[in-house]
Amino acid sequence: MTTKGAGMNAAATRIESLNQNIGEEVLLQGWLYNRRSSGKIEFLQVRDGSGTVQCVAVKSELPEAVFARCGEVTQESAIRVRGTVREDKRAPSGVELTLLDLEIVAPSTDYPITPKEHGPDYLLNHRHLWIRSQRQHAVLRIRHTVIQACRDFLDRDGFILADAPIFTPSACEGTTTLFETDYFGEKAYLTQSGQLYNEATAMAFGKSYCFGPTFRAEKSKTRRHLIEFWMVEPEVAYATLDDVMVLVERFISFIVARVLETRRAELKILERDVAPLERVQAPFPRVSYEEAVRVLREKGQPFEDGNDFGGTDETVLTEAYDRPFFVHRFPAAVKAFYMKRDPADERLSLSCDLLAPEGYGEIVGGGEREDDLDRLVTRIREHELPTEAFEWYLDLRRYGSVPHAGFGMGIERTLTWICGLEHVRETIPFPRLLHRMRP
Ligand code: 4AD
Ligand code: MG
Repeated sequence: MTTKGAGMNAAATRIESLNQNIGEEVLLQGWLYNRRSSGKIEFLQVRDGSGTVQCVAVKSELPEAVFARCGEVTQESAIRVRGTVREDKRAPSGVELTLLDLEIVAPSTDYPITPKEHGPDYLLNHRHLWIRSQRQHAVLRIRHTVIQACRDFLDRDGFILADAPIFTPSACEGTTTLFETDYFGEKAYLTQSGQLYNEATAMAFGKSYCFGPTFRAEKSKTRRHLIEFWMVEPEVAYATLDDVMVLVERFISFIVARVLETRRAELKILERDVAPLERVQAPFPRVSYEEAVRVLREKGQPFEDGNDFGGTDETVLTEAYDRPFFVHRFPAAVKAFYMKRDPADERLSLSCDLLAPEGYGEIVGGGEREDDLDRLVTRIREHELPTEAFEWYLDLRRYGSVPHAGFGMGIERTLTWICGLEHVRETIPFPRLLHRMRP
């Protein structure tokens, strides 16, 4: 087989579009996913990142050396395959390749991930290789689609992307989960949320969003917590809590519809029941905190009024609804300093969480922000936050303050639900967990 460096790339066909080449001779560049042999025939499962396809090598039709190579090539060896595309209605990709030639570009010996079962720790230690596996591959392709859908929705809705910094001098979501670092002799923290900066960009652009990594030094080892996760945060000037709930509802429906439209094959690989996803249609129920507490009690879940919901509370709550639902007006005491109080009941905040059904729980947190200067100063003091660090933020209330609201959606929590996974760790290429930051 002739290889011509860069020229090979241009000539290679991607497996995802092979069904457009039926009857033609093509070149594939990829890796050996799996191999089966029946003596006279070798079945090579080849992957190239865009998909996998079965390549059939028939001994009687091939030069001896080519067939011998087909019998020697090992799992995850880098290979180039030349062959003729045949329609095959039984194959997942709808096609098969009749192999004509095989080049081993680079061997792979004793690949650590075999088709047998491996424990989660072993797989996480080999995450750099694990992402080549079919299920992980499907999850990360859906991740790509979810992120693209977030951007498409907001871009079409008139939002300006204005990203927030990663190094910050102050807390946004409470001081207990801050990651401290040294900024040329000054204390700095990795951002917990871009919200405060987003409020500034919303006052500049009317509607803005940031999308980036956020960090929480959460000491909790649960299936919902990552130390580093990605959040998309839209913020809207002149918006109220009700406006935000409508925005979240449209946003989530759009994302789920996009996944259903374009990622059916991946959902199938994950054995995800799509019926609950097809029910993700507006309107989503709006449940007050008070009502939610009542539902918990009815379900026999022990719960102390005035607390925030824990993971189990959320799971129990989701049993009562067949689609995502809002819980709104949490007690102000359990929420962040920036939350605006409910004028109808000062003990409550104009906040909302969106809980995903099927036991998943919170995927979105948001609400209306305190827009009054004096009240905001009081809150900062009550939360024992350093006022100097918030001077710039207070300026937003000094110079043309308006009611405004927004929310943050955690990409990984949303994906865990959409993909129907047990644990959030599989939804990010390289998870950062409590006591784990390798590879
Ligand atoms: O509810 P949170 O803490 O809200 C905020 O950070 C607001 N400042 C957002 C805003 O209004 N602009 O976080 C928002 C979302 C959660 O609903 C959840 O989906 C995700 O971020 N999240 C996490 N995801 C994974 N691991 C963690 N440790 C997470 N903490 C929050
Ligand atoms: Mg929250």
